[in-house]
Amino acid sequence: MSSRRDFLSTAWAAAGAGAAMAGAAVVAKALTGSPDEVHTVELPVALLERAEKAGGLVHEGLLVRGPAAAPVVLDLTCTHLRCRVAPIEGGGFSCPCHGSRYDAEGRPVSGPAEKALARPRLTPAGAGFTARLP
Ligand code: FES
Repeated sequence: MSSRRDFLSTAWAAAGAGAAMAGAAVVAKALTGSPDEVHTVELPVALLERAEKAGGLVHEGLLVRGPAAAPVVLDLTCTHLRCRVAPIEGGGFSCPCHGSRYDAEGRPVSGPAEKALARPRLTPAGAGFTARLP
């Protein structure tokens, strides 16, 4: 026969286990990002024109370059473990976390990263574009 104390003890244990699992999921998502999460960044025409004039600029973790009417956009998130890569002299990119290097087109050339930097899908939005990152 189970007492009220046994019942409460079991309920607390179940609640604690559930909270621990939920907490672990939140931490894992914060560290790795969810692969099925879609992130969008608006690229208004004024920003695209500034990027074209400057030969490229970084906006919300994206490198935007090329003509305003047909921009080329690279996600500056390292494909190894998602650190932010930085442009380097010569036109490529370097990751400060584990040293991966990418060429100017975002293709990996050295280090642990094996995949190219992502190119967000661009859809027209007003006079600019919306960039969608998987
Ligand atoms: S996160 Fe960029 S090399 Fe590891």
